[in-house]
Amino acid sequence: MATAKSRMLALRAEIARHDHRYYVLDDPEVPDAEYDRLMRELRALEAEHPALVTPDSPTQRVGGTALREFGEVVHGMPMLSLDNAFSEEDVTAFDRRVRERLELPDGEQVEYNCEPKLDGLAISLTYVDGVFTVGATRGDGVKGEDVTANLRTIGSVPLRLLGGRHPKLVEVRGEVFMGDAGFAKMNRDAEARGDKVFVNPRNAAAGSLRQLDPSITATRPLEIFFYGVGSFEGGSLPPRHSEFLAQLREWGLRTCPEIRVCTGVEGLLDYYREIGRRRPTLGYQIDGVVYKVDSLGRQRELGFVARAPRWAIAHKFPAEEEMTQVRDVEWQVGRTGALTPVARLEPVFVGGVTVSNATLHNVDELTRKDVRIGDTVIVRRAGDVIPEIVRVILERRPRGTDVVQLPASCPVCGSAVSRIEGEAVARCTGGLVCPAQRKESIKHFASRRAMDVEGLGDKLVEQLVDAGIVASAADLYALTAAQLEGLERMGEKSAAKLLASIAASRETTFARFLFALGIPNVGEATALGIAEHFGTLDSLQSASLEQIMAVPDVGPVVAEDVREFFDSKRNRDVVNLLLAHGVAWPAPTASKSENQPLAGKTLVLTGTLPTLGRADAEALIRKAGGKVASSVSKKTDYLVAGDSAGSKLDKATQLGVAVISEEQLLHLVR
Ligand code: IVH
Repeated sequence: MATAKSRMLALRAEIARHDHRYYVLDDPEVPDAEYDRLMRELRALEAEHPALVTPDSPTQRVGGTALREFGEVVHGMPMLSLDNAFSEEDVTAFDRRVRERLELPDGEQVEYNCEPKLDGLAISLTYVDGVFTVGATRGDGVKGEDVTANLRTIGSVPLRLLGGRHPKLVEVRGEVFMGDAGFAKMNRDAEARGDKVFVNPRNAAAGSLRQLDPSITATRPLEIFFYGVGSFEGGSLPPRHSEFLAQLREWGLRTCPEIRVCTGVEGLLDYYREIGRRRPTLGYQIDGVVYKVDSLGRQRELGFVARAPRWAIAHKFPAEEEMTQVRDVEWQVGRTGALTPVARLEPVFVGGVTVSNATLHNVDELTRKDVRIGDTVIVRRAGDVIPEIVRVILERRPRGTDVVQLPASCPVCGSAVSRIEGEAVARCTGGLVCPAQRKESIKHFASRRAMDVEGLGDKLVEQLVDAGIVASAADLYALTAAQLEGLERMGEKSAAKLLASIAASRETTFARFLFALGIPNVGEATALGIAEHFGTLDSLQSASLEQIMAVPDVGPVVAEDVREFFDSKRNRDVVNLLLAHGVAWPAPTASKSENQPLAGKTLVLTGTLPTLGRADAEALIRKAGGKVASSVSKKTDYLVAGDSAGSKLDKATQLGVAVISEEQLLHLVR
């Protein structure tokens, strides 16, 4: 009992501190998931020891305290919270409770209104006789801050409701938030001015709505979606929540376009998965979905428990931000020798997967974030994006840590590390002497989009290099069955199969071959452009810098990289060996020139064309002997512009590049 009591006291104090930082200072110290965990632990302890629940416990109120500077608004009806579901079982149990309480016959399914759970701030707006009178934040749920003047600055908030049949008084509730694009732009502008940037859209929305000067709020890209009702006098509500939302839209109040009515648990879970899939492209932040019993009559029947309705639940997505410790910072050496700092982490479950490594990209990023061994960090993994370290929680840095330094020599081969002034990347100068660079360049050479050597996986390449059997891509073509059979997990059959696929890879295209060489900055598209432009390896190898720059989309940096690559004797030797081993591709066909309608022409596409899709248009141009570039430059012959063409059209006009329509393109091709 005594230990439970002291733990509860400690939890309350810690949660109160986090509340203050989150709600009042807009500067949270820990990610939401950590905060939720503390709350859950406290709730569990209080459920076990109800006699120890005190009125000042954070479980006994909804949110933070109102800021003193704003006027106070007492909500006509308290603004409550939602219970959370974290699993399918939680959702099933919620639906069961609903059906039991409503005493529905077995098999009768409930209709729910499903909505994204917006990650912004809850607000309440009162309309009297259709006129916006008062707007307030949620505050502690009973009374909030008077932010009427600030809400009036949000374009999507109607100052007078549209349509007719307005009730005498209605308190509509919703969420103020900042869309991803608005947030990004606001931070870019702030950075350019040297101002402080916001950590995330939610904090940006909160900070913007809590401005004491409404003229500042007016400059912020705040948005709003309405999803509920508080007090309602002098009128009647429709029978269903979904109909009420339709009513809100008629009054000119914005609602979320993703809202649907779904039936039964299966319907709810389908909705959850569907919104989860589309989450990265919604354009605003959500942290789950909310299910609400659609019938308002049933909602009244179900009523509330303490702080939350029995008729609704929030089904949360796995946290995208988590906290963990840095065990070590190591340096990985890539194909071109670039040294990348990688943080080795105490494994942590975040964004639905266990993460134990996070790249820090380059020395500058490492310096900016100042990640040190032993640090507690916030790790983020959103959607399929690679995990990243958002920031260090400095408050938790152990004593006596050191800044992580760029090593003076390569951790793999010991060659000197060089970093050109003003460049972000530091490189191992060992070139193909460095086993790490060798391995990466061979992996790249064999990869599917390059020479496509089936069955030559990363592990195998590492073994071959470590055993000293293969030193460059050319050695792959000299491999023998006897050499392969000596390797781990390599039998007679698999060795024969691998040799066959190595042999098959000899037949390739010029573009693939160029890409496979791993010339810095030459990706697939650039390789294709260069191959189409020069046609043969000989003419590319003897081309001057200027001639290489004549390739569409190739600028001085890439041209320099290409020239430098072929100027190196070591690279030329590897290329010649590859050719000697029989690597070959078809010669360019004669028809690919003069007599084709778009021969020698470079075209750029922009906007939506009336009938042709992007890929079709590109294929059509290539078939007619033309080249497709991705950006407009002096080298562009035609810009094919469709609907909602943007900056490319401006650029073409500026440079005097001919702008043509789809119809004109079709005419040219014919
Ligand atoms: S309904 C009594 N619907 O979640 C029902 N809330 O945990 C109260 N939220 O304070 C809320 N999206 O800030 C509801 N579609 C949605 C929501 C939503 C976000 C937030 C809101 C509320 C919190 C409750």
